[in-house]
Amino acid sequence: MEIKTFGVVGAGQMGNGIAQVAAASGLNVIMNDIKTEFVEKGLANITRNLQRAVDKGKLSAGDQAALLGRIKTSVNLKDMAAADFVVEAATENEPLKFQIFKDLDTICRPGVILASNTSSIPIGRIASQTGRPANVIGMHFMNPVPVMKLVEVIRGLATSDDTFTTTWALCEKFGKTPAEANDYPGFIANRILLPMINEAVYCLYHGVGSREAIDTVMKLGMNHPMGPLALADLIGLDTCLAIMETLYSGFKDSKYRPCPLLRKYVEAGWLGRKTGRGFYEY
Ligand code: CAA
Repeated sequence: MEIKTFGVVGAGQMGNGIAQVAAASGLNVIMNDIKTEFVEKGLANITRNLQRAVDKGKLSAGDQAALLGRIKTSVNLKDMAAADFVVEAATENEPLKFQIFKDLDTICRPGVILASNTSSIPIGRIASQTGRPANVIGMHFMNPVPVMKLVEVIRGLATSDDTFTTTWALCEKFGKTPAEANDYPGFIANRILLPMINEAVYCLYHGVGSREAIDTVMKLGMNHPMGPLALADLIGLDTCLAIMETLYSGFKDSKYRPCPLLRKYVEAGWLGRKTGRGFYEY
């Protein structure tokens, strides 16, 4: 099946980034969320990103207008009936994602691939909510999506080879480099990244160093583009905690226990950049 129309469920920081790269590759995009204000905010973010590129002379005003013209917004999941491929990028919440996949399964044509941008929920568990587990796959983009080259492509136990090769080719069409992972908690990216971030939070909790010292060590000592605490603020501390909980419950290994300080920040509503306060103030 030729993919002409690409559906994105969720217009948040991941969803609008995915919509932008899909539209930039020439596909027609339907970007869906539950409220008009959410899709409008997502579209405003895409417009801002593109305007920055126009101002820098990296994109023409004509191409900007054409790209934006390929993105339709929607607040009704039933609009996904027109999509040839759908990626879900809703909040990292299991019951919510399960319901979306159940609904997409009834809305989308048979054979349409349903991908999830989940950062840690098992693909097999999501696939089993549908009657088409062979067409369900993980398509894990990195934040900020327009900048980061990687997409982790995760095969569930039942994912077919056709689904895998179609998804892989789509990542390449988007100008991304895919990497294959199997369906274990955290896959590859977050199995490695999140314990490092969690350990940085433990360093702060135990008073080993200030937030600035911890981030400076990793930036200048290890050449990371940003320190782990600043990165946690970018990802969202609620997402970081949810991923650590998934690793901890999935492996039952104490090395994945979330730092109490991370939990305390999340309980206080200090979720990082998106709420104006995390390990830093914005
Ligand atoms: N959206 C779109 N473009 C953005 C952007 C955003 N949010 N942030 C920065 N950019 C663009 C800028 O416009 C600029 O573009 P040009 O090169 O075309 O001019 C380019 O990125 C570089 O930006 P800056 O010069 O402002 O800043 P920088 O060089 O410090 O880079 C960064 C910013 C790309 C975020 C960099 O700090 C970085 O790579 N940080 C690490 C990000 C990372 O690790 N992401 C993975 C998170 S884990 C994840 O996503 C998975 C998960 O499940 C948790």
